[in-house]
Amino acid sequence: MDTRPIGVFDSGVGGLTALRELARIMPDEDLVYFGDTGRVPYGGRSREVIIRYARQDMAFLRTFNPKAIVIACGTVSTTALDVLREENGVPIFGVVEPAVAAAAQITKNSRVGLIGTKASIRSGAYERALGALRPGIAVTAQACPLLVPMVENGRCRPGDIVAETMAAEYLAPVKAAGVDALILGCTHYPLLKEVIGGYMGTDVALVDVGEQCARWVKKQLEWDGLRNGRPGAGRHRYYVSDSTEDFSALASVFLGEDVAGDVEQIDITAY
Ligand code: DGL
Repeated sequence: MDTRPIGVFDSGVGGLTALRELARIMPDEDLVYFGDTGRVPYGGRSREVIIRYARQDMAFLRTFNPKAIVIACGTVSTTALDVLREENGVPIFGVVEPAVAAAAQITKNSRVGLIGTKASIRSGAYERALGALRPGIAVTAQACPLLVPMVENGRCRPGDIVAETMAAEYLAPVKAAGVDALILGCTHYPLLKEVIGGYMGTDVALVDVGEQCARWVKKQLEWDGLRNGRPGAGRHRYYVSDSTEDFSALASVFLGEDVAGDVEQIDITAY
C-alpha cells in the first residue's frame, strides 16, 4: 500500500483522457495533473526543446513526491521517455507500449493506422514497438499538426465544420490503406473520437492511448504492491502554466464535473 499521489502530465488538456480513465479505474488514488498550456503544442518542436520542457514538467511533478509519473503525452513518450527514465528514480509510464499492445491484439488484417503529432511520427517509436511485438504488421502513419491547437480551442464536436474538414483531410490516406485499427497516437485525439470514428467508420477500432496507458499503470501498480487501497475517493489537483479559465472550462466538460476550484496556475520555467 502506497498513499503517495500519481503524477500525470501533458502539454495541455490531452492528458485528461488518461487522467479520466485513471480516476475511473482507481478512484482511491490521489492524482496531480500538470498541463503545460502556456507552451502547447509540443508536437511541432525539436527533440531538444521537447526534452527541455519535459524535464521541467517532471521536476514540477516530483515536488509532490509521486509514487509514479504518467507521461500522458504521445509527443513526450515517443521523444523523451528514455532520457526521463534515466534521469529520474521514479516509475515512469509512457503511452506507446500500452497502445501498441492493444493495437496488435485488435487488428485482424495486420493493417494498423497511426496518427500523431509531427514529433511522434518523426520518432518512429510506435512503428518500432509494433514491429518488435508483431513483425509483419503494416503501419500507415500520418502526422496531424493542426489537430492539437484545434482541440485546445474546443473545436472537437461532430458537426463542427473545422473539425470534420481537418479530420477528413488527414485521415483520407489512412482510410484508403484499409486499416482495421487506428492508434490515436496523441492524447488530445480521443476528444475528437466521434469525429474520427464518424469518418473512419464502425469497422475501424480506435485505440485511445491515454485509456490504454491508464489500464497498464493500474496493472503495474498492483503487481508492485503500490496501490493506494485507502477507502474513500482520492483527491485530484490540476496545475497549468497559463491562465486557468480555458483549461477549467474544457476540463469540466470533458471530466463531467466542475474542477475550476482545483485548478492553479504555476510558473513552469522556475523548475
Ligand atoms: N497530447 C500531446 C500528445 O499526445 C499533444 C502534443 C502537442 O502538444 O503537440 O502528443
